[in-house]
Amino acid sequence: MCGIVGYIGNRNAVPILIEGIKRLEYRGYDSAGIAGISNNNLFCHKSVSKVVFLEEKVSKLDLDTNIGIVHTRWATHGEPSIDNAHPHVDCKGDIAIVHNGIIENYDLLKTHLESDGHVFASETDTEVLAHLIEKFFDIDGDFELAVRNALKHVVGAYGIAVINSKEPDKLIAAKNGSPIVVAIGKDEYFVASDVAPIIEHTKDVVYLDDNEMATITKDGYTTKTIDNVPTSKKVEEVMWDIDMIERDGYDHFMLKEIHEQPVSILNAMRGRFDHGNECLVKLGGLEGHEDVLAKFNRIVIIACGTSWHAGLIGEYMIEAFLRTPVEVEYASEFRYRNPVVDSETLVIAISQSGETADTLAGVKLAKEMHATVLGVCNVVGSSIARESDFGIYLHAGPEIGVASTKAFTSQITALYLLTLYIANLRNVTTLFNCNLVEALKAIPDQVASILKKENEIEALAELYKSSENFLYLGRGYNYPVALEGALKLKEISYIHAEGMPAAEMKHGPIALITKDMPVVFIAIQDAAYQKALGNIREVAARGGKVIAIGTEGDDSLKEKADHVFYIPKTIDMLTPLLSVIPLQLLAYKIAVMRECDVDMPRNLAKSVTVE
Ligand code: G6P
Repeated sequence: MCGIVGYIGNRNAVPILIEGIKRLEYRGYDSAGIAGISNNNLFCHKSVSKVVFLEEKVSKLDLDTNIGIVHTRWATHGEPSIDNAHPHVDCKGDIAIVHNGIIENYDLLKTHLESDGHVFASETDTEVLAHLIEKFFDIDGDFELAVRNALKHVVGAYGIAVINSKEPDKLIAAKNGSPIVVAIGKDEYFVASDVAPIIEHTKDVVYLDDNEMATITKDGYTTKTIDNVPTSKKVEEVMWDIDMIERDGYDHFMLKEIHEQPVSILNAMRGRFDHGNECLVKLGGLEGHEDVLAKFNRIVIIACGTSWHAGLIGEYMIEAFLRTPVEVEYASEFRYRNPVVDSETLVIAISQSGETADTLAGVKLAKEMHATVLGVCNVVGSSIARESDFGIYLHAGPEIGVASTKAFTSQITALYLLTLYIANLRNVTTLFNCNLVEALKAIPDQVASILKKENEIEALAELYKSSENFLYLGRGYNYPVALEGALKLKEISYIHAEGMPAAEMKHGPIALITKDMPVVFIAIQDAAYQKALGNIREVAARGGKVIAIGTEGDDSLKEKADHVFYIPKTIDMLTPLLSVIPLQLLAYKIAVMRECDVDMPRNLAKSVTVE
């Protein structure tokens, strides 16, 4: 939600910043802007809509600067417009700031600043920071001190980068709640919301902590708390490569990421089975915490969006396998409803980005309530990963398409591994563990075999691309998959779709069934199969069009459904890893046929760092 890049060094910052912010466009694409300092004067240029328009504008200006900041916006306060686009500048046009987050007390601050004579040009919360820094700079003439003093007055979340033409050799960044990474190159430094824009320049980074500020020149950087206490930072190496964040010949990142799943699922398992006994799972991130993990008698899973769907599958699996009660909560509800959580509770926070504001706040709340928090994140060093007591990384590589695909299957894989791991700690090991491990190892090839049948999904998409409503139905482990299939379609093709447990259809939604209502059934041969067939008959009897996802070899399904897409057989628990693949492809194909912007769907952003 909003992307930030900053640069200071010896090269022209402008092309570096523009290329960098393009890599963060998945965080927001309502408007974009850039600021730099040339001959001791600040310049600032903005455009609405995607970064390409800013690039076009800037390319005609022949700008040259060794310091600059750039931003891509996902609107919170104020509509997407040039005035509301970042960077925001102070009254004198010396200070420019880019911001990700929300200043909650901006109204109050704005009133005070206006009464002091500051004139505002936008409706944004961010602009108060530009004027506040100006106010303190006017008093002390010290840029770093001015930023620090300004931040002390702010309530809310921020990741910021600021420059000041009166101290043109300094780039200042700070963080509270929204991520900021400082990257260290050779005689040059970068700041960014995440590592995507910087890995083509350097792999050495430090992650700022909450209430921490970095003051950067081209010769070095210092970090201090907002209260001016020096901090010492560990330089970490980013493991992602540049080719991981390229489209690699695919039309969209989403399609690339769907096709990466045989490898990303494998990577979630890689090195996580014991060499001596392959039925045993080892999870490095949990080492040393075995006693704690063995003892819980209650688990609460918190997450948002697709990650929440993965959590539901986790609930079914953990309860079936470990017989430990699990609740799955939307993080946004959990954090505001005084949940029952104590030192006996294990809270599992699932988040691809590790930055989702509600999930992060849920983690903090759980810790305040003395729960132990296990993070399941993809982005290494992300806020949720660092805030958790311990965790499991997905190793799925960067996920850039706004609609999550490979992270979902990796999250489910990680939850299987976690279940097996805890089962072993509790001596709940049976022959079934080994069967599960065997079946899990076969999944990457099975996913690859499904992906080879993309053309079948394309034909289905062609038939149903004009439908305005869809139902997705599944039972047991595939009820969350029905939810996920419907979410994918909504997100990227803007078709109204509802997912639900198949049997619930009778309690209302069946009234919607007509010949114009495609119903996607996950009707694989699992424990719920016979019941699912009954539900298919109910839909067919009312003229609804049935698209079934069935198990290979189940020829009789063809007589009951209008269309069948077959997936390979696996054990019930693992079926979501296969059944979700055709649903991802169906949403993708329909969105492309409807000429929707698949990687940047309207109104959405990849990482929701506001409440
Ligand atoms: C946004 C994204 C979804 C994602 C959700 C949770 O809404 O568009 O694709 O599932 O956030 O994100 P997280 O990074 O916490 O998994």
